[in-house]
Amino acid sequence: MRIREACWEDMGEIVRVANQSFLEWARYTSYIGKKFLEKIHRFPEWQFVAEENGVIVGFVINEPVEKGIKISWIAVLPSYQGKGIGGELLRKVEEKCKSLGLKDIHVGTPFALSFYQKYGFELVKVTYRLIKEIVGKVIPSPHTYFNPGLEDIRELTPLLGEEIHPFLEAFFDTFPEEQEKIVGIRRGNVWEALAVGKTNPFSQELVETRFLWGENKWEALRVLEYISSVQGRRWVGVETESEEEKQALERQGYTKVEKNPLYWTLYHLIKKL
Ligand SMILES: CC(C)(COP(=O)(O)OP(=O)(O)OC[C@H]1O[C@@H](n2cnc3c(N)ncnc32)[C@H](O)[C@@H]1OP(=O)(O)O)[C@@H](O)C(=O)NCCC(=O)NCCS
Repeated sequence: MRIREACWEDMGEIVRVANQSFLEWARYTSYIGKKFLEKIHRFPEWQFVAEENGVIVGFVINEPVEKGIKISWIAVLPSYQGKGIGGELLRKVEEKCKSLGLKDIHVGTPFALSFYQKYGFELVKVTYRLIKEIVGKVIPSPHTYFNPGLEDIRELTPLLGEEIHPFLEAFFDTFPEEQEKIVGIRRGNVWEALAVGKTNPFSQELVETRFLWGENKWEALRVLEYISSVQGRRWVGVETESEEEKQALERQGYTKVEKNPLYWTLYHLIKKL
């Protein structure tokens, strides 16, 4: 087995390894092909492949970040897994970091927590993703709610403070195709909560909550569940990094997602060199 730098000629084989190894979207050629191209183009010295008898059986795609490197994707063909090839790819990244005096290797992974822990990475943060199945359940019609538009942004800006940025990102991502999934709860002139949802790009069944804010946010979320249910969707998903919020969601029928190729809890790890 040999580890070497990746080059343009390897693109086809690297994508084939991704097709066959990943569970999540990273297996889609249209998605991953573009991502790999970008990384190989911008940071060619940071991309490596593992070859067995001249055939590519694994790869690691990385990008420089502050004080270190981020592993974007790593994969080994299923029939070659468990033989230490993933570990060798990590070692290659580690060696290069050390030779340049870089101190940290970062990674976020849905499914390979034990792999990184085995090689000395430490878990630093969890982005929980929780999901609720809304079919086969009574989803009550909400009381009054609003559908904020462009004209409301001026009013929301001072109110949201620093959260205005993630709100606007979610807002413009959803507007106008799914504008009905921008939900506001308002008492009189006071905005009490906002939720922005978006249909998952790979499955009509899942609506992801992209933004959730305010003292009445669970009410806004229930409205989003209602809208999703009217549209015949099956699941609503919510992301959080707070243990408290995770528990509140669990009390409302949400469950933590593991090993779901569409929507997954993400584990953030670091290895200090
Ligand atoms: C994760 C992955 C790259 C590891 O490669 P590998 O060559 O099997 O790794 P190694 O042989 O060096 O290490 C094996 C360890 O990885 C873990 N592992 C093995 N198979 C795994 C799998 N399918 N998924 C996740 N982790 C796995 C185990 O902890 C195993 O340790 P053990 O043998 O002591 O039980 C490979 O399993 C893979 O391509 N998985 C699918 C793609 C993926 O999830 N990539 C990471 C997302 S960024």
